Amino acid sequence: MRTQAGMATPAATAAYAAAFPQFAASGHFRKLRCGAPLTISSLGLGTYLGQADDATDDAYAMAAAAALAGGINLLDTAINYRHQRSERALGRALRAGGTPRERVVVCSKAGYVPGGELANYMRLGLIRPGELAAGVHCMAPVYLAHQLERSLENLGLEALDVYYLHNPETQQAELSREEFYRRLRAAFELLEKQAAQGRIGAYGVATWSGLRVPPDANDYLDLNRMVALAREVAGEGHRFRFVQLPYNLAMPEAYTLLNQTVEKPPYVSSLNAAFRLGVNVIASASLMNGRLQALPEEVRAHLRQFLPPAASDAELALQFVRSTGGVAAGLVGMAQAAHVACNLRAAAVPPAPPAQLGRLLQS
Ligand SMILES: NC(=O)c1ccc[n+]([C@@H]2O[C@H](COP(=O)([O-])OP(=O)(O)OC[C@H]3O[C@@H](n4cnc5c(N)ncnc54)[C@H](OP(=O)(O)O)[C@@H]3O)[C@@H](O)[C@H]2O)c1
Repeated sequence: MRTQAGMATPAATAAYAAAFPQFAASGHFRKLRCGAPLTISSLGLGTYLGQADDATDDAYAMAAAAALAGGINLLDTAINYRHQRSERALGRALRAGGTPRERVVVCSKAGYVPGGELANYMRLGLIRPGELAAGVHCMAPVYLAHQLERSLENLGLEALDVYYLHNPETQQAELSREEFYRRLRAAFELLEKQAAQGRIGAYGVATWSGLRVPPDANDYLDLNRMVALAREVAGEGHRFRFVQLPYNLAMPEAYTLLNQTVEKPPYVSSLNAAFRLGVNVIASASLMNGRLQALPEEVRAHLRQFLPPAASDAELALQFVRSTGGVAAGLVGMAQAAHVACNLRAAAVPPAPPAQLGRLLQS
């Protein structure tokens, strides 16, 4: 299978944005503030949900092609999504060739053992006894190096733009904090090496609960400590530049919960801390895994001020995510080209003013 060289570049991603003048006034394209100043779309295509079957592969490949052709240059996947089939489906869309590799920001994740592989990986010594958490999760360096190679092969790429440790809090629940951060440091050392070799552009953590819980919770992730670890490993030029966390109308904790510190108290929100620590935030589950389809009337009425009258609840919910200060982009699972088209309508409207969103979250 042909492998595509290269990774996203500042010039090529800016050229991608310039090819969509219809979004020029709507703040759809944003420059990442930390690390390489890539230009990304305010919505990204996610690939988590759906059956592990040929029909869903075809649907994701077509939706991804429609996204790339329509103004979305952020693609998100993980090796375990749909038993590696989501990565392969994105690989098909990327190989179709409509959009040069350098214009697209491709992200994947490692940590969860992909379906059907555990016994094989244990036999090969990729996962050693004691490294597996919850029976499904590993972040040992040898394992991560193997997973990165496999993801690149699945996607048909020579390099990824962003590589996430997937829900590292899964390990935290079973380990002392000291042991957890020791393992995280070892993982960061591996990821910095991969970045130095040009296999990844940057790395981060994609978490479900870790940044949305209070500091005394078992699964809490300390963003300041993670950045300090990356600095210890690689200095100020470290490549720990991304977090991915759920953020949507029903899960606003990244904005509302004051659970992180930057060097010292007071506690601030994850969005605030990430901004100050030089980390880009990508929102996941922007439609709450597809469940945000019937908004409460007062929420709908509030958001309607910022979109045309015919906008659907999904468009309103996405406008909320992409309007939140500190959120670089919102990921939306899209296996239907019709959903890509619908969601791009929201992206063509300027974001809601921050004060108005604050009022909604406080109500
Ligand atoms: N811990 C983590 O790292 C983590 C956790 C969750 C998610 N994520 C990432 O975030 C991405 C997004 O989250 P998600 O896929 O779980 O959920 P989501 O984006 O909140 O919702 C996706 C669902 O909404 C549907 N949808 C999309 N646009 C729509 C529209 N305009 N109208 C009606 N329905 C619409 C999709 O349908 P179709 O698919 O049929 O188009 C799909 O069923 C994931 O794909 C993944 O990449 C990461």
